[in-house]
Amino acid sequence: MQVLVTGGTGYIGSHTIVELINHGYDVVCVDDFSNSKPIVLDNLKKITGKDINFYELNVCDKEKLRKVFKENKIDAVIHFAGFKAVGESVAKPLMYYRNNLDSTITLLEVMNEFKVKKIVFSSSATVYGDPEILPIPETAKLHTTNPYGSTKLYIEEILKDVYISDNDYSIAILRYFNPIGAHPSGLLGEDPSDIPNNLMPYIVKVANHELPHLNVFGNDYDTKDGTGVRDYIHVIDLALGHISALEYIDKHKGIDYYNLGTGKGYSVLEMVSAFSDVNKVSVPYRITARRDGDIATCYADTKKAKEILHWEAKYDLNEMVESAYNFAKKNSDKNE
Ligand code: UFG
Repeated sequence: MQVLVTGGTGYIGSHTIVELINHGYDVVCVDDFSNSKPIVLDNLKKITGKDINFYELNVCDKEKLRKVFKENKIDAVIHFAGFKAVGESVAKPLMYYRNNLDSTITLLEVMNEFKVKKIVFSSSATVYGDPEILPIPETAKLHTTNPYGSTKLYIEEILKDVYISDNDYSIAILRYFNPIGAHPSGLLGEDPSDIPNNLMPYIVKVANHELPHLNVFGNDYDTKDGTGVRDYIHVIDLALGHISALEYIDKHKGIDYYNLGTGKGYSVLEMVSAFSDVNKVSVPYRITARRDGDIATCYADTKKAKEILHWEAKYDLNEMVESAYNFAKKNSDKNE
C-alpha cells in the first residue's frame, strides 16, 4: 500500500513516516519546509535505511500535487500539512483560513480526480474548546476559541460533507492531545526555530540554557496544584495511532473521529519536576499571569480508539521527557 503523507517532514509527520516504513508501507512525502528542514529527509533515511520519495511543494499548488498522483499509485493519504500556531492564527486569521482550508480542499479535489478515497486527517483536541466533560469523549460538544482551531473544525465538517456526497470514502479524523517527546535516535524531534509557544519545547530550551526560565501561565486554576493540566502523549504513540487508523480505514468505509491521548492529565509543575528528575537538570520557573485563551484541564477519553482502532498509548511520562531532552542535547551539540 502506497501512502501519501502531506507535511511529512514536520514533527508528527516525520515520526509517522518512520512507523509507516517499519510497518511495510510505501511512502510518498510532500512538504514545503514552511515549518521543517530538509535535513529531516536525511535523518529519515538514517533511521529507516530507505530513500524517501519526496516532492517539495505546497499542497495548495494543484498542478504540482496532480503530478505526485500521476507519478505514483497512491492508495491512501495522511494529511498533516497545515499551520498550527494558535497565537499567530489570532493575529493572521486569513493566512490560516487560506492555507489550511485551501490545501485540504485542493488535496480532496485531486484525490477525487484520481479516485483515492482513503484519508486520515490530523485534527486536534482544540475542537473541544473548554470541555464540559472530563475525560473528553469524541461526542463532546465542539467549539473553538481561535482561528487555528476553527480551521480544524471546518475541515472536519468538509470531510463529513465529502463522505455524505460519496459513501465510498473511508475517513479517520484523529484528534490529538498534546504530543511531546522524540525519536530515541535523537534524529527527529520538535525543533521550533522561534521562541516556543508550547510547554515542552520551552522547558527544553530552559534546561539547555537557551532561555533563562519558564513562565508558568497561572497557578490559580481549579486543578491539583493550580497550574494547567494536559494529556501529554509520546509522538511515537501518536504516530502508531495513524498506522492503526490506516489499517482500519483500509477495511471499513465511513467517517469516524478518534481521540489520540493517554487519558492521563499532568500539571505544568508536574511536567517541570518529571523533566528535572529524569534528566537531572534544573528548570527554573516563575509563576506569571494566565495566558489568554488557556483552559484549566484537558484529557482524553481513550475508550473509542482502544475498542475500534485497537490502539492505546504505551510510553510513559519519563520516556517522553527523556527523549525530548535527548533530541535537544544532540541537536544543540550539532549547533556548537
Ligand atoms: N504553558 C506554560 N508556559 C509556557 C507554555 C505553556 O505554563 O511557556 C502551560 C499552558 O498554560 C498549558 C500547558 O502549559 O497549561 C500546555 O500548553 P501548550 O502550549 O504546550 O499546549 P496547549 O494545550 O495550550 O495547546 C496544544 C497545542 C494546540 C492544540 C491544543 C489542543 O499547542 O495546537 O494543544 O489540545 F490545539
